Amino acid sequence: MSDPIEISSESESFNSRPFEELHADHVMQCWGVQGNYKPIPVVSADGCWLKTADGRRIFDLRSAHECINLGFRHPKIIEAMKAQMEKVIYVTDDFATESTSLLAEKLAKLVPGAPNKKVWFGQSGAGAVEAALKGARFYQYNRFVRRGAGNLEPAMQYPYPYKIISRYRSWHGSTTGAASVSGDPRRWFIEPFVMPGVKHAPDAFCYRCALGREPEDCGVACADYLEYMIEMEGGDKKIAAVIVEPVVGSNGIIPPPPEYFPKLRKICDRHGLLLIVDETMTGFGRTGKMFAIDHYGIEPDILVMGKALGVYCPVAATIFSGKVAEAFDENVFGHGQSFSGHALGSAAALAGLEILTAPGFLEEVTRKGQYLGEQLQKLSDHHPSIGDVRGLGLFWTLELVKNRKTKEPFARPADKYAETVIRKISRFLLDEKNLYIPADKFGIWIVPPLIVNEDELDFIVKAIDEALKIADAEITQ
Ligand SMILES: Cc1ncc(COP(=O)(O)O)c(C=O)c1O
Repeated sequence: MSDPIEISSESESFNSRPFEELHADHVMQCWGVQGNYKPIPVVSADGCWLKTADGRRIFDLRSAHECINLGFRHPKIIEAMKAQMEKVIYVTDDFATESTSLLAEKLAKLVPGAPNKKVWFGQSGAGAVEAALKGARFYQYNRFVRRGAGNLEPAMQYPYPYKIISRYRSWHGSTTGAASVSGDPRRWFIEPFVMPGVKHAPDAFCYRCALGREPEDCGVACADYLEYMIEMEGGDKKIAAVIVEPVVGSNGIIPPPPEYFPKLRKICDRHGLLLIVDETMTGFGRTGKMFAIDHYGIEPDILVMGKALGVYCPVAATIFSGKVAEAFDENVFGHGQSFSGHALGSAAALAGLEILTAPGFLEEVTRKGQYLGEQLQKLSDHHPSIGDVRGLGLFWTLELVKNRKTKEPFARPADKYAETVIRKISRFLLDEKNLYIPADKFGIWIVPPLIVNEDELDFIVKAIDEALKIADAEITQ
């Protein structure tokens, strides 16, 4: 046993300052102006609630960046983590641990398609997206160049299909590759140094169709346009993959029309492209099914997950279908990170999956989601600022507009960091109602932990009902 560490008088005085001041002085806030950073000191968290140093209880309506689907301090997860900590926390992937092996097998079976899949583990959604993008390109390289499949003659400046098609309303993470494929304005922070070869397609967004279609005559024209892009960009001679969120998250919580994914799957197959589905925000019960793609009955080639996967631990995963994984049987998978396949995080994830797959759990999420959706729909009867109410499971948004008829928004994409009425609402809800909601530029998110109860849902809707008066006062119709 080593000697106890002596604490110097300097560190004592350092620690006498309130910790939130130390935090503000020394922690860089994500996506924030640092001089304005005023974090609220939290001393504990339980269920859906945070407890602050001054005794307030705040409901976390964004489930801690959509990571804490099972609520804070779930006893079964904590028990599993403690048990794993007594055994082994992390070893490199030259070794196998029971928890990581079991988790990989479970994920391979849980996601759609045959279970002969392989899992790459990371720690963040962005890292897992990078693995998916590189994996898709390596797969195409191996297929075209090494195996001599396909004819690559015309205009082959680059020796294998490398382009990626994504969509404008999307967010796939802050690292350079992931931000490059994102359409969200946060991509602008890396311009002009974006990864080459990314093309953005129109969104599957019926409330604001980029192609000017009405839902009645939609015909999923956005998917047809994406196919047109594939042809004009060189098809499978130039394009490696299409990457999409199954239900768009940070860019407006947008479930696609039901025909979209079956059509997109066929398009990708027709052109030999891989379909990457990014479930980082939507996975693990958020939409009432284990994965949002389960609503649409198709099988992705690569599936990305993160956030709620590790419950309380930073765990992310990229799942490669058998077809893609097989390309690496005799070729290097050129990607990796320290802490990949973390045994402690895997134990937490396994315990989380046990809860999510318990009989009735996801059905209950669906039931609560329907109840929430009905209550939100009722709000639009007397709040003219509500343009659209949409969602799936416990993943909802109220899109707010200045004018319901013209759909004039309160904010445009370039206003991401502007002071909008939506920010005012979010501040009101936090200060006056102890409800923490994300300040999105398009509207209000309702993304509670999945363990939320009906009383809590009523409390949320009532608080939002009151807050919407702020937006109603600024409408123009
Ligand atoms: C769909 C999607 N993909 C990827 C990411 C990036 O995840 P992370 O912040 O863990 O890197 C996010 C984050 O919000 C996301 O919503």
